[in-house]
Amino acid sequence: MPVPLTGRPGDPRRGRAIAANSDRGNCIICHAIPLPEIPAGVFGDLGPPLDGVGARLSVAELRSRVVDARELNPQTVMPPYHVISGLHRVQRHYVGRPILSAQDVEDVVAYLVTLR
Ligand code: HEC
Repeated sequence: MPVPLTGRPGDPRRGRAIAANSDRGNCIICHAIPLPEIPAGVFGDLGPPLDGVGARLSVAELRSRVVDARELNPQTVMPPYHVISGLHRVQRHYVGRPILSAQDVEDVVAYLVTLR
């Protein structure tokens, strides 16, 4: 997914906060991320550690993962963060709206790029 979802460049500081926040991205429930303020025991390990992911994957690949990881792996347990159709068993709060807005996605991607 090479084309940014918004015209505004992602803000890595905002993206970092979204990734770490259990009410927003909650990426830490499945991924170890180099976030010194979070105790090591908090991170889940369902997904691979994201340390170095900005060097392993291109911006386009990172964006695809965050928007809808099912494009790559239909069996994935990683939530599709920015799709609103084709979902099942959606919590009422999320019906008709994606977990992360387009700008949230760009911010998270900008943060992931910094993990080198
Ligand atoms: C419920 C668990 C879960 C959550 C929550 C989750 N992920 Fe994942 N993620 C995975 C799994 C599992 C994989 C491994 C590939 C696959 O199965 O799709 C993965 C893969 C990835 C990859 C590719 C890593 C690599 O080295 O190839 C990135 C990047 C990623 N996730 C970012 C995120 C971000 C950013 C968030 C939060 C916005 C997030 N993930 C939330 C489970 C999760």
